[in-house]
Formats: sequence, structure tokens, C-alpha cells
Amino acid sequence: MVTIREEKFADIAAREALLDEAYGAARFAKPSQRLREGRLPADGLSLVAVEKGRIVGTIRLWPVNAGARREVLLLGPLAIHPMHRKRGIGSALMRRAIARARLAGHRAIVLVGEPAYYGRFGFSAALTGRLWMPGRYDRDRLLALELRHGALADAHGLIGPAGRIEPKPDLNALIAAESGEKPTFARRAA
Ligand SMILES: CC(C)(COP(=O)(O)OP(=O)(O)OC[C@H]1O[C@@H](n2cnc3c(N)ncnc32)[C@H](O)[C@@H]1OP(=O)(O)O)[C@@H](O)C(=O)NCCC(=O)NCCS
Repeated sequence: MVTIREEKFADIAAREALLDEAYGAARFAKPSQRLREGRLPADGLSLVAVEKGRIVGTIRLWPVNAGARREVLLLGPLAIHPMHRKRGIGSALMRRAIARARLAGHRAIVLVGEPAYYGRFGFSAALTGRLWMPGRYDRDRLLALELRHGALADAHGLIGPAGRIEPKPDLNALIAAESGEKPTFARRAA
């Protein structure tokens, strides 16, 4: 049986391996990646699908600004393990993520993806005509879904990163923890 739950810290390695398998290195060159790097996903909107203790699907949503002062969510990446596709797991993750986003009070979701797939969840390019992403992408693949009617009615401008900055690891503390010593700090030059 497949269950959907929030992602935990211990899931990160399996999630990254799944994304490598689904998208390869090209995933780091996607325009959406420019909006995600160095940022944290939206609270409660990193989900995994689990079967027999293994991560078989992943979806995350990120705070972004669609033009000035209009915070919405960016959906992606969504990926299902190749051995588990066409079983409805991608759809289940999409529906759960959309429902949670709506419940949390978010107003709209944007993504870059295949209209033939995302259209079944209500996404369309009709609302993104005056929005654009950083980098190169196919305009027909910039899609949106309103969670509140009219949320993107007059949206225009660049979609830019929002949300919290991802904290950088404290290397001194990590090295100290590894060696069992107290953290040391570089002495300032006099
Ligand atoms: C796209 C993806 C998330 C779908 O997951 P899934 O669990 O297989 O999806 P579901 O079982 O809920 O739905 C399967 C349906 O989606 C369709 N589908 C899958 N990928 C599609 C695509 N790129 N374009 C259009 N339809 C697609 C399947 O043909 C199938 O159609 P059917 O219901 O008429 O038989 C999965 O195939 C995946 O991880 N692909 C690799 C990553 C990727 O290409 N992502 C980009 C998608 S735009």
C-alpha cells in the first residue's frame, strides 16, 4: 500500500536519488531551479509517497513572487520512481499537495511542465500570459492554478524567489562533532 506523508530529514538522500533517476543532471539547469536554490520549501508542502518503507514519489512546493508583492507557490519537482509509474501515485501526490496548499491559505500555484499531464489537475497557461520565469523555457509550459478565484487575474511580471533562505551548515561545528572536539575558530589577523 502506498502512503503519502510529509518528508523527513532522513528521506533527503532517497529523494535526491529519485530525482537524479527521473531527471538526470538536467534538473539543475531548469528555470524553476533558479527559484528554488538556496531557499526552503513552503511549510508542510514537501511530501513523499512511500511503499514498503521506500520512497517511490516526491513533490515539493516553494514560495515565489508572481510579479510584485504577489506570493504564490511554485510546484516541483514532481517525480515518481520509474518502476512505480502509471499507478496513480503522481496524481495522488498532486491532489494531496494542492489540497494542503489550499488549506494553508495559499492563493495560487505556478509550474513549468507538460500541459497534457498537469491539465488534469486544472493547470493551464491561460493565467500566465503576462508572467515570465528567469531563463529559457517554453511559454506554453508555464502553467498556473488558482486556489482562490481571481488570485492571478491581473498578475504580471517576473516570477522570483521568495520564502526563507536555506541555512548554511556550520562547518566548524560539523568538523568538531566529527572529531569529538570543541569548535575552534580561525584567529583574526592582527
Ligand atoms: C510525470 C510523472 C510524475 C507521472 O507520475 P505517475 O505516477 O506515472 O502518474 P499517474 O499514474 O498519476 O498518471 C499517469 C498518467 O499520466 C500520463 N503522463 C505521464 N507523463 C506524462 C507526460 N509527460 N505528459 C502527458 N501525460 C503524461 C500517463 O500517460 C498516464 O495517462 P493515463 O492516465 O491516461 O493512462 C512520472 O511519469 C514521472 O516522474 N516522470 C519523470 C519526471 C517527468 O517527466 N516530469 C515531468 C512531467 S511534465
